[in-house]
Amino acid sequence: MIGAGYVGLVTAVGLAELGHTVELTERRPDRLAALRSGRVPIHEPGLQTAFEQALTAGRLSVSERPTIGAEVAMVCVGTPIGPDGQSDLGQLRTALADLAPVLGPQVPLVIRSTLPPGGTQLVIAWAGVPAAQVVTNPEFLRQGSALADFRQPSRIVVGRSPSAAPETFALVIDLYDRIETPRLVVDVASAELIKNGANAFLALKLSFANELAGMAETYGADIDDVLGGIAIDPRIGSQYLRPSFGFGGSCLPKELLVLAASGAARGLPMQVATAASAANATSQARFAARIAEALGGLERRRVAMLGLAFKAGTDDVRNSPAIAVSAALLDGGAEVVGYDPQANGNAAAELPGLRVADGAAAALAGADAAVIATEWPEFAVLDWASLRPTMRQSLVLDGRRLLDGQRLRALGYRYLAVGSPETAP
Ligand code: UDX
Repeated sequence: MIGAGYVGLVTAVGLAELGHTVELTERRPDRLAALRSGRVPIHEPGLQTAFEQALTAGRLSVSERPTIGAEVAMVCVGTPIGPDGQSDLGQLRTALADLAPVLGPQVPLVIRSTLPPGGTQLVIAWAGVPAAQVVTNPEFLRQGSALADFRQPSRIVVGRSPSAAPETFALVIDLYDRIETPRLVVDVASAELIKNGANAFLALKLSFANELAGMAETYGADIDDVLGGIAIDPRIGSQYLRPSFGFGGSCLPKELLVLAASGAARGLPMQVATAASAANATSQARFAARIAEALGGLERRRVAMLGLAFKAGTDDVRNSPAIAVSAALLDGGAEVVGYDPQANGNAAAELPGLRVADGAAAALAGADAAVIATEWPEFAVLDWASLRPTMRQSLVLDGRRLLDGQRLRALGYRYLAVGSPETAP
């Protein structure tokens, strides 16, 4: 397993749990040091325990470079967006170079990293192995529930070239032989578009829900009723339709850009994916403007940003809407004090002007407004009654519809939420 990030580490531990012996390699010194000291360097529920169990069982080892002649070689390095809007496959090239000396001639080279359309052909060229030997195995793990998603995936997708020998990709499918779930064996181009398309569609759903939230605010509707009445149609469904001021993470925003860029490269305008991207940025800017308007301006105002991670359950701030809105408020002259149960460190590194507090109460003290930016359950059970006198103004803007507005208004707060008009001062 090459790469011990959010996907590689979870997959390595998951495969060890399934009874396989895994050598996990990681180039990043900070991550390698943590793993060698027995500590997982990312926050994922259940991962530390499962990691320790795999080490104790002797099914997992950690190294800087691949050493063993494996029966299956799997690559799980990052493929972030480069400055040109295309996928940066630099880490992939490095991984393939590290693997080359130890990759046996018949050993399936499995790419689990997210590849853009056409990416597998590049891997085949860079790896210098026959197309028949390269197999893709995209993952659908959500951060914050990655281990659970590995143990019970909605499907296993294997992409292979027409020339691939059945035993080659059978070896890959058999890695998961104890997992009950549909298995899809498709050609590599289809596997790429399954992954890219799935993420882009999830992003579409959210951008549409968030645009409707804006309509509900301005036309005096309640977005929960609106989406409830729409989602009841089984063709639409209620999953993954929770409105907010925007979505983030290392995948969804990137996937929309990759799909648009990969389409444009072949003369396809990809208007829907492009619009979903733009709508997500607009949604976040609109929320920042709503905060500024509710405050009567940002100069000399202090905003407590409750939540900095891109979603609850993770310490990751990549493309976090909470960070984007904090940056906009700072640019507008406000002081922003943030608190996140897991992401304080990552957020402070990401946004230098941001102050971070070691608790919600500390962030709220003296604040003119409280913003719910990440749906951490602990924010819903804060003692809002006793916190109100510690704030300078009693304004709450709920970017995730996490709190009970009626209750906060009864406590004397001015409460605004994404997707609801302001009915009471
Ligand atoms: C996503 C996909 O779900 C996963 O299948 C893929 O492998 C990687 O990308 P991830 O980004 O880790 O997973 O988390 P996810 O739970 O999908 O959340 C992504 C963003 O959407 C977060 O900002 C989250 O707050 C937001 N979101 C999610 C909503 O705003 N509403 C929802 O209903 C669901």
